[in-house]
Amino acid sequence: MGDRQDAETFNNLLAAFGMARGKLQLPCVPALKARYVQKVIALANLLEKPLTSAQVEELETAIAQELAKGFQASQHSQLLISFQPNPKSVEQLDFKITCQIASLAEFYEAALKDNFATDSDQLDRLETSVFGKHANARVLDLLPELGDPETTTILDIGAGSGRNALPLARSGYAVDAIELADTFCQQLQQQAKTENLPLSIIQGNILDPLLRPKLNHYALAILSELLVHFRDADQARLALAKACDAVSKSGLVLFNIFLCRPDYQPTIADRQVAQVAQSFFLTPAELESVMDGLPLELVDRHSVFDYERDRLPSSAWPPSPWFINWATGRLLFDLEPPPISLQWLLCRRI
Ligand SMILES: C[S@@+](CC[C@H](N)C(=O)[O-])C[C@H]1O[C@@H](n2cnc3c(N)ncnc32)[C@H](O)[C@@H]1O
Repeated sequence: MGDRQDAETFNNLLAAFGMARGKLQLPCVPALKARYVQKVIALANLLEKPLTSAQVEELETAIAQELAKGFQASQHSQLLISFQPNPKSVEQLDFKITCQIASLAEFYEAALKDNFATDSDQLDRLETSVFGKHANARVLDLLPELGDPETTTILDIGAGSGRNALPLARSGYAVDAIELADTFCQQLQQQAKTENLPLSIIQGNILDPLLRPKLNHYALAILSELLVHFRDADQARLALAKACDAVSKSGLVLFNIFLCRPDYQPTIADRQVAQVAQSFFLTPAELESVMDGLPLELVDRHSVFDYERDRLPSSAWPPSPWFINWATGRLLFDLEPPPISLQWLLCRRI
């Protein structure tokens, strides 16, 4: 009797009563539709409920529709593929395809809770845990040429958890920090109040036409790891134009952006995946047209990875567990050298 109770026995019973239900959650990248369909086919096979060709066709259409809808709405949207027993046939699964649209601020709220904090105590310590413990070396290196902190104002666009804004304000610079995400704004506000810092928080989206930083006012505008969140060259130009208007004549605009190697022809899939992974990039020609006509002259350009690795104190390197792979483009591409990498560009307002 014992021998009969092996893997080959009771197949009928399992087919009739075995249940499978669950959910796949995938980033909304339209170019990955075929990969996602293959994943679902493989899953159904694994669960011994292979899809009929009609089901595959339906699945393809539904996945394509939801991917397009989700990606257009936000690069942080998720495709949800849920499956459950089909009440009419024990041999099939029912699939439901939807997309969940999430804004950048919601993405950060969720990522912070998942990766950095489980309670509000930890959320209070974001400055030391999210993007890095230390100000960017590239930012600190500019300070000697800015003059007396007491009379120098700095604009930090997309200030995040304040890795630059807080130490600059502690050094006496008057800092205006523009930030989209509520969690970061609250934390910066709290910190500025506790330490009585010359730091003003402006909650808003730099791409919002109604958000206008003071004109011709700052000695330096910083856009560190901000453009990585953008979706097209027009957004990059708008943010840089606003930064440019905000700094006074001869003032500095420091930003970083993923740039593509000149010899690499990015595909649509490359561009979509990069947006989803906070790695929006431009080709050198695209950057040239973004900068074209702006009253900015390029002072210098450096690889962010090389610059920060060589100059940050060893206790602050790497700034975060994901930084090295991300900044060098290896998070997305398993090509050597990777076709994109994060670059510092320092410009002077002319
Ligand atoms: C990767 S973090 C970098 C934060 C900080 N600059 C640093 O280097 O540590 C990017 C920040 O920019 C903010 N951000 C993204 N898009 C923005 C926008 N359009 N307007 C204002 N802030 C934005 C995000 O909420 C996030 O806090």
